[in-house]
Amino acid sequence: MVLDASILLILHTYQDESIEVYIDFYNSITLTCLCLVSFKTNNMTIQDILQKEELDTKDIATLLQTEGDEQKLLFAKAQEVQLEYVGRKVFYRGLVEFSNVCAKNCFYCGIRKDNKEVVRYHLEDKQVLEAARFAYENNYASIVLQAGERSDDFFVDRVDRLLKDIKVLSNGELGITVSLGEQSDQTYQRWFDSGAHRYLLRIESSNKVLYNQIHPDNDAHDFENRVRCLHSLKKIGYQTGTGVMVGLPWQTYDDLARDLLFMRDFDIDMCGMGPYIEHHQTPLFQNRAQLWPIETRFSVTLNMIAVLRILMKDINIAAATALQAIDPMGREKALRIGANVIMPNVTPTLHRKDYLLYENKPCADEGAEDCSNCLSMRIELADREVGYGEWGDSKHFMNRKD
Ligand code: 5AD
Ligand code: SF4
Ligand code: FES
Repeated sequence: MVLDASILLILHTYQDESIEVYIDFYNSITLTCLCLVSFKTNNMTIQDILQKEELDTKDIATLLQTEGDEQKLLFAKAQEVQLEYVGRKVFYRGLVEFSNVCAKNCFYCGIRKDNKEVVRYHLEDKQVLEAARFAYENNYASIVLQAGERSDDFFVDRVDRLLKDIKVLSNGELGITVSLGEQSDQTYQRWFDSGAHRYLLRIESSNKVLYNQIHPDNDAHDFENRVRCLHSLKKIGYQTGTGVMVGLPWQTYDDLARDLLFMRDFDIDMCGMGPYIEHHQTPLFQNRAQLWPIETRFSVTLNMIAVLRILMKDINIAAATALQAIDPMGREKALRIGANVIMPNVTPTLHRKDYLLYENKPCADEGAEDCSNCLSMRIELADREVGYGEWGDSKHFMNRKD
């Protein structure tokens, strides 16, 4: 009724105009009406989709685009699944960024080999062990060892030694996740035997064409090898995690939907995904004009987390630090709608500002103690509780093994 009246009003307004203008305008009104109708159907559809047992690419792409009230429906469902399957607990992984030296040249990353502006550093073994000790003494129960990617013997041996030393200093109690990129099967096996039991290797994008657009075209950046690595990790017995960046240039909602289906089909145990944030010293910065607005990248990342929680109910999902580079409450928001892991930075403050994969990275000037206090408060604010002293392994991994 209301619409009819407004159309009449508009027709009246246009009575003196030429017929072409009227037709143009009428078409646009018709489109508006269709939009309203489709919004309504869409609104119903979101509820319908959320009740389906199996989601396909189209369903997921629709969910990923939700905003406003529709997004609230998605979040409510994700939260319900989260509370039922993984509960309120959030597990800590103390993040040690022990070197920013990288042999690779990913087009999006601030510490890529060819970025000559970066001040390169290596933590000494002693510093890595101190960071691990801090995590241990503060009951974090787990750490993540992360660095730029290298696979030379010196590096592989060093990581192996560090893993053993961390196990010794913590009486075998600290769980260790490794996030050190593509390695040989032998290296993965060796690190596993030395005490690592979880591995994070983001696929970045499961669309090979897009993957190739954001990486150099050479053997060191080969999509098939990345997939091979993920299989190898799983076969060795790691809890295997992957993830993608959200809002890359050229990336579509269908790509993102297929990323989630890739994770489901691969049967991953853990996931870390965050918004893509451009870094001015990288080649991909020149494509910034075609990026989604930063708020959209943020919102769609939350949608990705929520949908993944619905798709894979008992996996571990990290609230990526990059979310907080966009919204001061970004990580807390993620914890409320599906994420159940957070990575407090325990890297010595002096080097944090040199590990900038993207701009505006939070906690660059803080120390491990600051982040510890800050995060415990934030988690409480998000109505979640820290699982101090617990490894918080992926329930999915346990269920998959049974
Ligand atoms: N924006 C967001 N995430 C990034 N990463 C690297 N560069 C960026 C960026 N510019 C992510 C990649 C990598 C992880 C360690 O950091 O997904 O796997
Ligand atoms: Fe190196 Fe990882 Fe950055 Fe690629 S994303 S350049 S492998 S640190
Ligand atoms: Fe590092 Fe808040 S988490 S300062």
